[in-house]
Amino acid sequence: MTTPGRADLVIVANRLPVDRVVLPDGSVGWRRSPGGLVSALEPVMRANDGAWIGWPGATDDADLQPFVDDGLQLVPVHLSADEVTEFYEGFSNGTLWPLYHDLVAKPEFHREWWDSYVRVNQRFAQRAAEIAADNATVWVQDYQLQLVPQMLRELRPDLRIGFYLHIPFPPTELFSQLPWRRQILEGMLGADLIGFQLPGGAGNFVRLVRQRVGHKTHRDLIYLPDGRTVKAAAFPISIDSAGFIELAHDEGVQARADEIRKELGSPRKIFLGIDRLDYTKGIYARLRAFAELIADGALDVEDAVFVQVATPSRERVEQYRILRDEIDRLVGRTNGDLGRIGRPAISYLHSSYPREEMAALYRAADIMVVTPYRDGMNLVAKEYVACRYEDTGALVLSEFAGAARELRQAYLVNPYDINGMKAALMEAFNAEPKETTRRMRAMRKTVVENDVAKWADGFLHDLSDIRPDHDKTMRAIASS
Ligand code: G6P
Repeated sequence: MTTPGRADLVIVANRLPVDRVVLPDGSVGWRRSPGGLVSALEPVMRANDGAWIGWPGATDDADLQPFVDDGLQLVPVHLSADEVTEFYEGFSNGTLWPLYHDLVAKPEFHREWWDSYVRVNQRFAQRAAEIAADNATVWVQDYQLQLVPQMLRELRPDLRIGFYLHIPFPPTELFSQLPWRRQILEGMLGADLIGFQLPGGAGNFVRLVRQRVGHKTHRDLIYLPDGRTVKAAAFPISIDSAGFIELAHDEGVQARADEIRKELGSPRKIFLGIDRLDYTKGIYARLRAFAELIADGALDVEDAVFVQVATPSRERVEQYRILRDEIDRLVGRTNGDLGRIGRPAISYLHSSYPREEMAALYRAADIMVVTPYRDGMNLVAKEYVACRYEDTGALVLSEFAGAARELRQAYLVNPYDINGMKAALMEAFNAEPKETTRRMRAMRKTVVENDVAKWADGFLHDLSDIRPDHDKTMRAIASS
């Protein structure tokens, strides 16, 4: 391990792209977490002495120093136990997360959570200011860090700053509930370029800035009194498509897919859901729709099984605990009432799996069911499509997932409409192969042509374009 120097490209995200692991000899090491973001950014980070600033995910690492892991400079930001409660579980995931996801759960507004959010954002901004080289580009990620752009600009006006929101940006009437709405808008306006998943989110933001902050706007541009122009536009994120296609072709993955089907009793069709265990994902309603189809006799447990993987998430937040109990009960009742020996209706796995196992599940599944009430994008839908290289399989997709804007050929559903979902599940179940192939081929083209590398290049290219006079001005300031 060497110590990082100053970086020309700095990513600032709530989490570092590594997980801490205890090695067999008892020492502590790091394992790269499999996110698409890091794989997309790795080449450009390497070319620009990139650094990644983030929280390592624990509270006992106050002394952790910046380090280099596999060529990536990683800069840990410490959170105390109180900050995990108030900044991460509180303001980020108890206030902003439900508010930005259409109030699927009720957001809580607490002034001490907000104070913690401000303090932690300031710490991230401070770290970024220390690490960034002169005139560097800093790209801040997601709702946990919306104040960082402005805080960082105050510390380092020479920087080019981008911000990307991975989750939906809500309609103006919802956002306006937030007691700190103006501070958040101004925080984000510290960036030169603000990216959203969908044009609707960018539009909501520009409208709010006009209404609540009073700046002049024209289409996707915002004119600030200090002469800066900020652009707010959509950059729909994607996946490492080539990586998933390669994985899907892997012999081990294919053998595992065959084994999964056998272990499930070789049903005619496998339905699959893979989600973080989150109330925005619509897991309960989807499993209920499936259970009703079995109870109605439309499907038989010999014909169909639903495999639901629910990855543990934010387990100390009460609403997540409640959801877990509700799903446990629903699965237990469904299998108790409708299953037969060796033939559960729902095969429920509360666990997280490596990419290989996910790819094997995607290969095994005939019908992928992705039915969130609201979702920024939903990368699982895109991963499934990428893995279906024979153009087989069907995708049932919520119209309220960002992905529905690109994957038009999915069986689109309203996740609040249980009968509508039942009809879509049956339509996908009974579809002719010719029809599913036609749909899958079109969706695969979209996912293959628009991968996460293209997303990152597009954003960084627009960011470097937005202030063409920036470098010149900074040089002039430096030499005066
Ligand atoms: C969503 C958010 C990410 C977040 C991830 C996992 O995708 O947009 O910012 O990292 O969920 O959630 P967690 O709370 O475990 O970081």
